[in-house]
Amino acid sequence: MKKTKLWGGAFAEAPDETAWRFGQSIESDWNLLAEELEVSLAHARMLERQKILPAAKAKKLIRALESLVRDAEEGRLKIPRDAEDIHAAVEEELRKRVGDIAGMLHTGRSRNDQIATVARLYLRRRCDRLLSLIKDLQREIVKQGARHANAPMPGYTHQQRAQPVTLGFHLLAWFWMLQRDGERLETVKISANTCPLGAAALAGTPFKIDRHWTAKQLGFDGPTPNALDAVSDRDFASDALHACATLMLHLSRMSQEIVLWSSEEFGFLRLPDRVTTGSSIMPQKRNPDFAELIRGRSARCFGHWVAHMSMMKALPLGYNRDTQEDKPPLFDALALCRDSLLLMRTMIEGAQFDKQRMREAAEAGHIAATAVADFLASKGVPFRQAHERVGRLVRACEEVGLTLREATPDLIRSVLQADPDEILPLLSAEAGIRSRDGYGGPGPNAMKVQLAEARAALRRKGFVARQ
Ligand code: ARG
Repeated sequence: MKKTKLWGGAFAEAPDETAWRFGQSIESDWNLLAEELEVSLAHARMLERQKILPAAKAKKLIRALESLVRDAEEGRLKIPRDAEDIHAAVEEELRKRVGDIAGMLHTGRSRNDQIATVARLYLRRRCDRLLSLIKDLQREIVKQGARHANAPMPGYTHQQRAQPVTLGFHLLAWFWMLQRDGERLETVKISANTCPLGAAALAGTPFKIDRHWTAKQLGFDGPTPNALDAVSDRDFASDALHACATLMLHLSRMSQEIVLWSSEEFGFLRLPDRVTTGSSIMPQKRNPDFAELIRGRSARCFGHWVAHMSMMKALPLGYNRDTQEDKPPLFDALALCRDSLLLMRTMIEGAQFDKQRMREAAEAGHIAATAVADFLASKGVPFRQAHERVGRLVRACEEVGLTLREATPDLIRSVLQADPDEILPLLSAEAGIRSRDGYGGPGPNAMKVQLAEARAALRRKGFVARQ
């Protein structure tokens, strides 16, 4: 097998087959092609500007790199799969076009600063894509949330019906989870935005390179201040993996609710056909497979973060080959987040809610108990006593086979020591919801405020609110 590598002058023996295969990263590196070319082009232009390479040769190199960029954009560039990594692959292609001049491109740089730069650039782009997908999903959530702002549903604690809320209120809780994901990813992107290029292997270079210029060309805020740190640092990957893990955690929790709600037991939700699967044996089945897969794959994403931290924890400063292992998990996590966001958007956009069924669940059983206790407390009964009295009323209702909603005026009067005319109107879902109308609550005015805030957040350019 041909082995395209960027070293070997001092070696008498060709690499062992297994060692070669074991060391190759080209299979995942090809993801980085566009960024690899962009970084190389910026470096070549800097070498020309700084007169580090003779003008004619530098121009040839730049033109060849530009042609590689065009070919790559048009999908015409075939990456040699026998190369060691993306750097070797690109240099080989360059060599085919300009011969030995290709070797001049590596003046004043190393694969160590190169890979760190390329990976950061790649990450920045992928973060941008995820950030816009998060906004898209939030937009659908706000649409459904506004449509169902006042539609009652049960709110749960311990997976037991707790107090009536509205569907819009629940959906907006999802919105704010995603808002934090946006803020987190945006922060990752900002903190990753310094440029290692020019740090060379670990200790800079004697050539009069202009690191500020290349950093600017590549859209970074500036060059990294310490060459050793520049080639050793993989915080951008661990931060990104952590942000992805938390995003997947949120999408997984949403998925869990979607799975529950679309079960016959709940019957709250019907997912659109395009994101539902059937059973090969039970023709009536509508399976929420994609919610389940998001939930299942989130585990993989958490693993990537832990694997990365474990891989890094004992590395001394300077480049270590171990860090090659940062990329496949990063690519996988980012792709998983992208697809999960797309699928979640489709699920939410086409979700049909059974509002009748949700309302019934929001009024069933003794769900109004807290509303009654709150009412008594508002009349001066210490809350503990109010709680106790309502508890007794619940038990009295159960003894005669009634729910709290069906409590008779006599029971209310005798057990609760309250006026039934004041208590009975509190027992509907709407009454309970309306009573909790303070900031952050599900009441109608509070929901108006919350929807306005969500819309304002959507309209903002990024996620982090800046003064
Ligand atoms: N494939 C390597 C990586 O991803 C590129 C850098 C290799 N540098 C080296 N000194 N072997 O980390």
